[in-house]
Amino acid sequence: MHALNDLSHADKASAYAELEKSLRALLAGEPDLIACAANMAALLYWSLPQLNWAGFYFVEPSSGDLLVGPFQGKPACVRIAIGQGVCGAAAARRESVVVADVHAFPGHIACDSASNSEVVVPIVDGERLIGVLDLDSPVHGRFDDVDARGLEALVGVFVAATRRGAG
Ligand code: SME
Repeated sequence: MHALNDLSHADKASAYAELEKSLRALLAGEPDLIACAANMAALLYWSLPQLNWAGFYFVEPSSGDLLVGPFQGKPACVRIAIGQGVCGAAAARRESVVVADVHAFPGHIACDSASNSEVVVPIVDGERLIGVLDLDSPVHGRFDDVDARGLEALVGVFVAATRRGAG
């Protein structure tokens, strides 16, 4: 059983460094995309404080849309077009989007009415957009640049771990 760290009292940047170590251990030796995404969503949801949703949307090759993947939290919107909502914006820009108040974000897609802030990190391998990592919080302004940089590092671990399965 993988031990989860309680990050609620730790300095945020060092907490992400700890989380990165945990994620490396959790994903070691298993390249399957869904298996890795499922455990990573659980690790984030149960380690980071003040979240109500943590999970993945993956690009569906046939449509180009984002389709919901493994997550923790309430049931979510299944399909999001690139450019739509916070997830679609991060995917289109291929850069992380931090939203302090989702109700002020044009086109925000409300999956859980409890969500008030959000961070979305694109998952990119070279030129290829794989999907996005999405975290929601009931707390306004829950996420900042430290979260974005920390989550980008974790996404890098995820991409490297799952790339090994692509042969
Ligand atoms: N709020 C997101 C949709 C996904 S849910 O938050 C899980 C958005 O606007 O893209």
